[in-house]
Amino acid sequence: MKSPLVELTEMILNQLPPSSRFGEEDAALVHYHRTLLLEFESDLVQGFYDTIYAHAPLRAVMQSDERSARETTLRQWWQRTVTGPFDERYWTWQVLVGLVHVKHGVKNPMMMGMWGWLLSWLRNRLTATVGESEATRVLGSFEHLAVTVQALTSESYLEHYLKVLQRTTGFKPALLDRLVQSEINQLLEETRTSWNETETVVGKLSTVS
Ligand code: HEM
Repeated sequence: MKSPLVELTEMILNQLPPSSRFGEEDAALVHYHRTLLLEFESDLVQGFYDTIYAHAPLRAVMQSDERSARETTLRQWWQRTVTGPFDERYWTWQVLVGLVHVKHGVKNPMMMGMWGWLLSWLRNRLTATVGESEATRVLGSFEHLAVTVQALTSESYLEHYLKVLQRTTGFKPALLDRLVQSEINQLLEETRTSWNETETVVGKLSTVS
């Protein structure tokens, strides 16, 4: 029998259109460039944490003495990512990575922001090493990886947040859904009335039900 985490991982992966999801061709391309990608490790890890520590809301999540431990974690993640395999265990680990971040108060925008940083950094470094055309190809694969991992980490965040709410309040999922629906309807209503109804975008919004 599959564990709940493996089931959640599969459920999230199945929601991604195959054209945006990390697939076999991507894995083959990353594998082909693995030696070069592994050489990026030290600079990538340094730049990643320089960026985190340079921005107050991200720095606030980190303990003052944990940079070196976090760098080691990211090195291990990079090595495992670049060398593969991209199997069930890898994707389920990304769901767990999401949970570890929830525990530490790392929010989804912080994760997405750092994925953005990672992709830009890789684009520059790959263009300088393998040339623009190959860099674009490899970047395409990393974009698929970014979408796939972000889907896993952010949805796992939401699912587990809801699970804890359900357990602690005793509310059934259907009741929570109805409460959320009702709150959203109220928010939409309030926004529609407070915004200037003559603006085109508001006109469009008021058609949302
Ligand atoms: C591209 C985005 C990110 C990736 C790929 C990433 C990767 C990881 C990984 C692989 C772990 C270890 C999970 C495990 O125990 O197996 C981890 C832990 C952690 N990360 Fe991140 N991370 C990202 C963004 C961030 C950001 C933005 C912050 C803070 C602002 C952050 C802070 C932490 C902290 C505090 C831990 C907990 C370590 C522990 O207690 O074991 N990470 N991260």
